[in-house]
Amino acid sequence: MPIGVLNCKIGMGKTFDIGLERLTGGSEFSIGSAINTVHRGGSRNEGSAAHAGARTEASGLEAIRGALRGTFFLETFGCQMNDHDSEKVAGVLLSRGYTQVESPDSASLILYNTCSIREKAAQKVFSRLGEFGLTENTGRIIGVLGCVAQQEGEEIFKRAPWVSLVCGSASYSKLPELLAQVEAGNQRVTGLDTDTDETFETEITRRDNPWRAYLTIIEGCDKACSYCVVPYTRGPERSRASDSILREVRQLADLGYSEVQLLGQTVNSYKDPTPRKMRFSELLLAVADAAGIRRVRFTTSHPSDFTEDIVDAIDLQPKLCNHVHLPVQSGSTRVLRAMQRTYSREEYLQKIRMIRGAKRAISITTDIIVGFPGETQEDLAETLSLLDAVKYDNMFSFKYSPRPHTPSLAMSDLISEEEKSRRLALLQEKQREIQTARHLTMVGENFELLVSGKSRRENQWSGHTSCHRVINFSSQEQALLGKYVQVQVTGATPNSLLGEQAL
Ligand code: 5AD
Ligand code: SF4
Repeated sequence: MPIGVLNCKIGMGKTFDIGLERLTGGSEFSIGSAINTVHRGGSRNEGSAAHAGARTEASGLEAIRGALRGTFFLETFGCQMNDHDSEKVAGVLLSRGYTQVESPDSASLILYNTCSIREKAAQKVFSRLGEFGLTENTGRIIGVLGCVAQQEGEEIFKRAPWVSLVCGSASYSKLPELLAQVEAGNQRVTGLDTDTDETFETEITRRDNPWRAYLTIIEGCDKACSYCVVPYTRGPERSRASDSILREVRQLADLGYSEVQLLGQTVNSYKDPTPRKMRFSELLLAVADAAGIRRVRFTTSHPSDFTEDIVDAIDLQPKLCNHVHLPVQSGSTRVLRAMQRTYSREEYLQKIRMIRGAKRAISITTDIIVGFPGETQEDLAETLSLLDAVKYDNMFSFKYSPRPHTPSLAMSDLISEEEKSRRLALLQEKQREIQTARHLTMVGENFELLVSGKSRRENQWSGHTSCHRVINFSSQEQALLGKYVQVQVTGATPNSLLGEQAL
């Protein structure tokens, strides 16, 4: 069955890009979040007394349901994988005749696609759900999708009895049938299996960004990092067939997408399940070969599976973006061992040397966790010195957050929140210095940008380089969105680059 693609303008007014444009500011970063998150307006403050009377008002309820029938509101938390899952969920709903709306108040079906990578993210959904104690009274159906759904399972029904659908990310391939059960009036529908070997492919995907398309090529994770809940919430690694990926890429190109971003928790661990047995680097080259595709990105790479043929492919094919996101997590081999990261500091640095040895300059970004149980001042000093050694183009840094179902939950030598904050600030200050110096060297350089944002200010635009930097630039030209333009960098701050369109 061919995979259809539908564009939808909801959320289009925002900056499209995610994560990497948010540099080392003062707070924690989570990757992703902006792209198709539909932000809700106004708060809802109805009290629980009305909830008690809900069952006696069935006919009123039916009337409200009838008025709102067929509309859905979908809010997404977390990473690009979640953003893209939401695009697919929206596709499934649109194919069932639903219309997407921008506020839960005007929706008959309200879905939260949740993230549980850190505690703060997981808490968000319960605060959202807390606002819906009146659901029965308002006649809406509420569903919780994604990692919190997988993690908490049927507990969600206990904490928020007004929820009627709980579906974990590992069970999305069953989503159409689960939705059919919800539509049929079933009050407690769950999809919580993790033993599926299927990936989530849909006939229609509603993509938010009209120029860049996300494409999941591998789902789940077979690594076992001791702090990480993903293997539990997303299940084991499943790679998508290369022919199916390439077919979708060609369709995307025909529809006018010029940039594709291949996604996976460990994207470079891709193992083609077909007899063709394409290597990840071969897949990258084949995707870049599709007529109309100008840029190919991939994220997130695991250092242990980052092999030289990937660097060779980037060198060979300019359409492959010169950017690698290679999370290190810690600069201390001792902590890496405790994290079960499968490489040492030295082995990681060896991968960096390999990437730096490429003919093209490849930008490198990373994720780092501070305050892992037992992390000493010496361990932290090693992480700081790793920043000096690598000189990352960008960094996402997090305070360690204990997660359910993870081995590190049982570890002792916990670091206080205050100390974690202190370490995070030190790390971010160092990265800020590195980035400031790097940005200054870029003044005067020319870059090709894919224009993806228009400022409210006259003649001001923004776009991305192949190396995944955002440049805000001025141009006298009109209608630049989606176009590729040459821009000269004219100014720099630690967190942003300014430029002018080069003539
Ligand atoms: N605590 C803090 N950060 C975490 N990450 C994953 N699990 C945790 C956790 N328990 C970070 C890692 C990962 C990024 C997506 O989130 O750095 O690369
Ligand atoms: Fe989590 Fe480690 Fe898998 Fe990344 S590689 S998703 S950090 S278990």
